[in-house]
Amino acid sequence: MPLVGTKEMFKKAYEGGFAIGAFNVNNMEIVQGITEAAAALKSPVILQCSAGARKYAKHAYLVHLVKAALEVEDIPIALHLDHGPDFETCKSCIDGGFTSVMIDKSGLSFEDNIKETKRVVEYAHAHGVVVEAELGTLAGIEDDVKVEHGNEAYTRPEEVEEFVSRTGCDSLAIAIGTSHGAYKFTPEQCTRDPETGILVPPPLRFDVLAEIEKKIPNFPIVLHGASSVIQKYVKIINDNGGKLKDAVGIPEDQLRKAAKSAVCKINIDSDLRLAMTAGIREHFMQHPDHFDPRQYIAPGRDYIKELVEHKIKDVLGSDGSAPAIMDLVNAK
Ligand code: G3H
Ligand code: 13P
Ligand code: ZN
Repeated sequence: MPLVGTKEMFKKAYEGGFAIGAFNVNNMEIVQGITEAAAALKSPVILQCSAGARKYAKHAYLVHLVKAALEVEDIPIALHLDHGPDFETCKSCIDGGFTSVMIDKSGLSFEDNIKETKRVVEYAHAHGVVVEAELGTLAGIEDDVKVEHGNEAYTRPEEVEEFVSRTGCDSLAIAIGTSHGAYKFTPEQCTRDPETGILVPPPLRFDVLAEIEKKIPNFPIVLHGASSVIQKYVKIINDNGGKLKDAVGIPEDQLRKAAKSAVCKINIDSDLRLAMTAGIREHFMQHPDHFDPRQYIAPGRDYIKELVEHKIKDVLGSDGSAPAIMDLVNAK
């Protein structure tokens, strides 16, 4: 089965009131954990690689790992460049087999963002590849770019229509209060649950999302920085020698609500990192004599599979029980 683009996935997701999970991949076990979970639930999935992933694992390894997953699992998979920093990186992914790219020029002015995005769209569309662009800025860290809390900027609904029509992009990442990484909010931005002591973050700006939806109806919206920082994995890490204090993410009920709206793609990376780290740390604490990587990486892969199954079933809603999904899976 060949790699697919995201156009059909997003159409079904929009109509069906669910979202497709876009999971970051950096090595074989992460690819396996995600795709085994998606296949078990008959869910389409987007596997995405950042510039950092390409630097770490090399482009060819990533493409071939994802193609291997296609041979093993019978589900639609799109291969996407996450946060493409420039035209050259996008071009290299388009030429090198990706079916979707993101050009992230959200740090530039409105006009420069349009200009740079349009250049990528023209090249990508000429090669049958779809493009995600971004308007607004999230707090947090992506590769070498760090946006301090307080310097993030919500997407301005009055700009989206012009941005989409002038760039020709296929989907739009927006900023409505999500943030990258495992520390999405400072303790000062949150309240603290008096019983559990866990931080409760400020709610997402669904009012901004609704305004955006009104301006560009039927257009697929993307949510970055959407890990929930699941406390189960944070606790396993901390109980097994880790030190993650006040790690906090986006509550799952808010992501479920977003998935039912125009949000068609939800990006998850930090939760995968936490799940894998939890499995490896737990294993080492229980088996300090082990030194075969297969013994200690496999539990990390198992937790990734458990996590992704949970996301698909309980948060994204993209499992095969959605009628629209069966069309998509059967069409492959
Ligand atoms: O949004 C950023 C993703 O989590 C990728 O992170 O650039 O460290 O690979 P990375
Ligand atoms: P998280 O850090 O919340 O997992 O976000 C990942 C992301 O947006 C990748 O582009
Ligand atoms: Zn992101």
